[in-house]
Amino acid sequence: MTVLEMKNIKKSFEKEEVLKDISISVKEGEVVVIIGSSGSGKSTLIRCAVDLEKINSGEIKYGELTLASTKNNEVLYAKGEEYKTINHKYGMVFQNFNLFPNLSVYENITLGPKMVLKKEEKDTEKIALNLIKKMNLEGKEKAYPYSLSGGQKQRVSIARALAMNPSILFFDEPTSALDPELTSEVLKVIKQLAEENITMVVVTHEMDFAKEIADRVIFMDNGYIAEEGTPEEVLVNPKNIRTKEFLNLM
Ligand SMILES: Nc1ncnc2c1ncn2[C@@H]1O[C@H](COP(=O)(O)OP(=O)(O)OP(=O)(O)O)[C@@H](O)[C@H]1O
Ligand SMILES: [Mg+2]
Repeated sequence: MTVLEMKNIKKSFEKEEVLKDISISVKEGEVVVIIGSSGSGKSTLIRCAVDLEKINSGEIKYGELTLASTKNNEVLYAKGEEYKTINHKYGMVFQNFNLFPNLSVYENITLGPKMVLKKEEKDTEKIALNLIKKMNLEGKEKAYPYSLSGGQKQRVSIARALAMNPSILFFDEPTSALDPELTSEVLKVIKQLAEENITMVVVTHEMDFAKEIADRVIFMDNGYIAEEGTPEEVLVNPKNIRTKEFLNLM
């Protein structure tokens, strides 16, 4: 089953076209890793997928539900209840955590299920305690974000995203703000999610990690998908000259 389908996406900021006719589709259980040099449009692509940026043309579908479509050069976005349903299908983990600074770890995780999904206390507690255990955050329930290490913050942020039970989870360079030893603890939990067949799209500069977790790798270059395939095809035996150059620089 296809979880996400993006077709012929174009996105410009003022005069600069940042996404130039990009199409990707992600199947249930698939882990897609996006690589590419700085400015190639990786963040913009996933920001468009989760509706933090509006596209200029193309189509975005989550399962059977259409988030955005284009007719007669006009982009139409889902509204109202339909929008809410689509909005609950995806979660996002940012480079800089984006936790609520005035809420504890426990509250950061339960806020969405409580306020957005309108779940009862006993259910949100169960969800939170489960995720706290899974993300190795036991003992930190009452801690506030300022008192956590970067790795712990990022694991809270992953728990918060998972608490909404999304069909697909997006990560934008989840470890690039972290020291190497904190990086490995975050990569470990993401790998664990991959093993549980959670559908994910991950932008990363960690090539060894990409090789380990990806079912498919997409190499973006200058707003295009320059190459796409298995980790073996793209990372070990790339065909495209730009992919080769990029990997040599890493
Ligand atoms: N909000 C914005 N307004 C104007 N230009 C933007 C905006 N966001 C991104 N851009 C431009 O779009 C291009 C692609 O940026 P994007 O952040 O998607 O690249 P990236 O591949 O994620 O790079 P990096 O690896 O550095 O994170 C860049 O030239 C950037 O300056
Ligand atoms: Mg980026």
